Amino acid sequence: MQEIELQINGRKQRLFIETRDSLNFVLRERLGLTGTKKGCETGGCGSCTVVVDGMAVYSCMMYAMQALGKNIVTIEGLSNPEKGLDPVQQAFMEAGGLQCGFCTPGFIMSAKALLNSNPDPTQDEIKNSLVGNLCRCTGYVKIFEAIRLASQAIRSSSSS
Ligand code: FES
Ligand code: FES
Repeated sequence: MQEIELQINGRKQRLFIETRDSLNFVLRERLGLTGTKKGCETGGCGSCTVVVDGMAVYSCMMYAMQALGKNIVTIEGLSNPEKGLDPVQQAFMEAGGLQCGFCTPGFIMSAKALLNSNPDPTQDEIKNSLVGNLCRCTGYVKIFEAIRLASQAIRSSSSS
C-alpha cells in the first residue's frame, strides 16, 4: 500500500492505495463516489467517464497513480445545494436524455469536457465527443438534444 493525495472535485483526498488500483476502484470503493459507474471495465462503454485535467477519460482504464497531481472531476462535483444542478445535468433532465440512468454520469462528464473546451459544438462535434459512451435505452436522440440545450444555456449565461 502507498499513501497518495488526489485532487477530486476541488478537495484534496489522502488515502492508501495499491499501485494497481484503477481510478474507478478508488473513486467508488475507497471514496464512496459511486456516481461514477463501473460497467465493462475494459474501456468499451464509457459509463465510468470522469474529467481529468479537462479531458474525458475512462476511470476504469487509468491507474489512480496516473491521476496524481491532476484535477479530477466526477459527477458528484458538478452540483451542490447552493448552486443547484449543473447546466448539463439540468439539460439532460429537461430533454429526457436518460431512461435507466446507468450511462448518464458518463455521458454528462463527456459532455462537460466537450462544452468546457467548445461551448458551441456542431452536431458532428457532439457525436464525435460521445463516440466512447454507450447507451442501451435512449436511442441517443434525446442525449444529443440535451447537449444542445446545455450548450445554449451555458452560452446565454456567459453572455448575460
Ligand atoms: S467501465 Fe470503463 S469503459 Fe466501461
Ligand atoms: S439510459 Fe439506460 S443505458 Fe443509457
